[in-house]
Amino acid sequence: MPTSSPRDLASLDAAHLLHPLHHPTEHEGAHIWVKGQGATITDAEGRTYLDGLSGLWNVNVGHGRTELAAAAAEQMATLAFTTGYTGSASVPAIRLAARLREVAPPNLVMTFFTSGGAESNESAFKTARFYWKALGRPDKVKIIAREHAYHGVTLAAMSATGMSAYWPMFEPRVPGFVHTVSPYPYRFQGARPGETVGQAAARLLEETILREGPETVAAFIAEPVQGAGGVIVPPDDYFPRIREVCTRHQVLFIADEVITGFGRTGTYFALSRWKVEPDIMAFAKGITSGYLPLGGIMVSEPIRQAMSSVPPEKRWMHAFTYSGHPTCCAVALKNLEIIEREGLVERSARMGERLLKGLQTLASLPAVGDVRGLGLMCAVEVVADEASKAPFPPAQKVGEKVRRAAEERGLFTRIRGDVIMLAPPLVITEAQVDRIVQILGEAIPAGVKAA
Ligand SMILES: Cc1ncc(COP(=O)(O)O)c(C=O)c1O
Repeated sequence: MPTSSPRDLASLDAAHLLHPLHHPTEHEGAHIWVKGQGATITDAEGRTYLDGLSGLWNVNVGHGRTELAAAAAEQMATLAFTTGYTGSASVPAIRLAARLREVAPPNLVMTFFTSGGAESNESAFKTARFYWKALGRPDKVKIIAREHAYHGVTLAAMSATGMSAYWPMFEPRVPGFVHTVSPYPYRFQGARPGETVGQAAARLLEETILREGPETVAAFIAEPVQGAGGVIVPPDDYFPRIREVCTRHQVLFIADEVITGFGRTGTYFALSRWKVEPDIMAFAKGITSGYLPLGGIMVSEPIRQAMSSVPPEKRWMHAFTYSGHPTCCAVALKNLEIIEREGLVERSARMGERLLKGLQTLASLPAVGDVRGLGLMCAVEVVADEASKAPFPPAQKVGEKVRRAAEERGLFTRIRGDVIMLAPPLVITEAQVDRIVQILGEAIPAGVKAA
């Protein structure tokens, strides 16, 4: 008989289940989530919370969508799985790739499917190397990423990830991964007199390329808005300059839209806000709203041509069993239909504006250093001293105390250090947005006081 009491489940969990970022002491008192509806989730104790981060930035259409369950059931009953290797295809994978062509930046012409974000970035790195080898430039292999970046934690993705806490227990990192600065307006230090943060950060990328040698650099990868690193929104002049720098030095530009895609920031893909086209775009999360695992990359016409022009023995020898998984693709198609039918991209822009305005009213609270956001991707950074922006000593765990105080008041979300991050489902209501602001208005002073 399967056991179902929360206490029995917790002891089975402790005995048998390894979790992402596993540590038993941090897992004590963990929620066992059993149900979701719209922007809320409920645990095995029957407590319901606002889902402040849409699961892991991915449940864009909200929880409890029986339409997505029906799409999966129908495809599973018809043909749950078939290979997508060269020589085979499935109807949902073909339809989804064609649909993505309609909604993605216009220069991106073909799609390869993966099962998630890290696989997508691995695919992007390998594709960048492949491209230059196909063009007779085999030395262009390095990947430049940024501080505060999160690109996943498989070995190459971890090496691109710019948060050093992910590295030490797994080093050595993959050779050829280099980091440059993030255009972090609140804390950026590298600008020359008269230079904007965007200009300075783009200049520093160019200097990094020149230092490494452009003939050795395959690609630059960036999240349009850095997510797990603390919701870092770049200034408007950053990405247009980045595009120019990459083009000037023949460096491919990989946009990691794993979080920002599918409406999260108020446009279908975030980079289009700045009218910038990447050479490769990685996506995952919101494509199925997390109902099934799916990700992928889209590539530009020159990359497609390189793939078509090499002889078979030099082919793009890259693959996953689950590439183009028919059931995952069927769910993604239905998910995109929901996003469109319900106008969720526009809703994200509207609700995001409301959330950001609400959070800005908290700026007068002691310890609130910065409030930032784009669409439904927002953050509040708390600091020990607002004038100098000095952070609290990490040992005080202020961010964690604020997070816990918010949780006690019915908001479940994640932090990075002392940055409280928010990315609720795009279906969130006005009242729920206002409730998030109200909860943080209480939780921030409570958390700071407890520290
Ligand atoms: C921007 C970005 N890229 C890549 C990833 C990795 O995705 P996954 O955990 O599906 O491998 C994440 C995960 O949060 C992400 O936020």
